[in-house]
Amino acid sequence: MKTLADLEKVEALFRPFDLKSLHLRNRIVMAPMTRAFSPQGVPTDDVTAYYRRRAEGEVGLILSEGTVIDRPASSNEPNIPHFYGDQALAGWKKVIDSVHQAGGAMAPQLWHMGVMQPSQSGWLPSQPFEGPSGYVMPGQTGGVAMTDTDIADTIAAFAKAAADAKRLGFDSLEIHGAHGYLVDQFFWEGLNTRTDAFGGKTLAERSRFGVEVVKAMRAAVGDDFAIILRLSQWKQQDFTVQLAKTPQELEAWLNPLADAGVDIFHCSQRRFWEAEFEGSDLNFAGWAKKVSGKATITVGSIG
Ligand SMILES: Cc1cc2nc3c(=O)[nH]c(=O)nc-3n(C[C@H](O)[C@H](O)[C@H](O)COP(=O)(O)O)c2cc1C
Repeated sequence: MKTLADLEKVEALFRPFDLKSLHLRNRIVMAPMTRAFSPQGVPTDDVTAYYRRRAEGEVGLILSEGTVIDRPASSNEPNIPHFYGDQALAGWKKVIDSVHQAGGAMAPQLWHMGVMQPSQSGWLPSQPFEGPSGYVMPGQTGGVAMTDTDIADTIAAFAKAAADAKRLGFDSLEIHGAHGYLVDQFFWEGLNTRTDAFGGKTLAERSRFGVEVVKAMRAAVGDDFAIILRLSQWKQQDFTVQLAKTPQELEAWLNPLADAGVDIFHCSQRRFWEAEFEGSDLNFAGWAKKVSGKATITVGSIG
């Protein structure tokens, strides 16, 4: 039988949420889900209709499928939407206008995949995949190690996408920093063996790339636009990875990112009920909120 306390917990999901540019009618967030229905990277009217239906269903915040930034090898699939170029951005403009007409709120999830396996179709980008050290798995090369220029250009491409998200009228943006893609490849010692300022023995040192991305995006959108960062301990390459093994390591990881401009940490777990560290039943999102003081989103097997 449900207790009053249980009902109050559920009721909290239906309260509005306001933070900077985000004004949500409830706290239910649609997870970002890749679809690959955007031919040559351009979102079609079907994509607009898909997101509009979610707004009509009254989800509080829609996060788009991962949409890639302007780097030659940011994607491994031609039909994954771009978040650059006039045609793709015109498609996204239709999406956000339609979502707003239906009373919804939405953020694009801005993505660079990093070093990837080729997609099942065998399609390859025009340039080799790029990542911190060229590894697709620990010890296994699948692309090239980024030069200083590659890193600077990638940070600039994230910032440009952030400015475009705001200009098109999105309510917020999310950086995909989870699941073993580019930003996460820098966090993970298994894929980041750099010895320069973007590498290092500690997670805090390896966070420099993520911090610089967030700083550049914050500079591009100003103080009042909400920035969400999605993180995960686990990697698609290895579910057992735990980047932060203690609350202290978590704090050293998150607080520089918060100082750089993150407003909300989106904490991706495979099972939301699993405690992050021994001695507390707080999950990843619970701990992230506790150590950073920021709002958090939880996800993973909730349905
Ligand atoms: C088909 C599919 C596509 C996904 N694409 C993305 C994505 O583009 N970006 C992302 O951060 N997570 C992606 N995810 C992960 C989901 O956002 C979510 O974290 C995951 O499905 C766990 O939640 P669930 O157990 O409720 O499905 C995807 C998941 C699925 C099933």
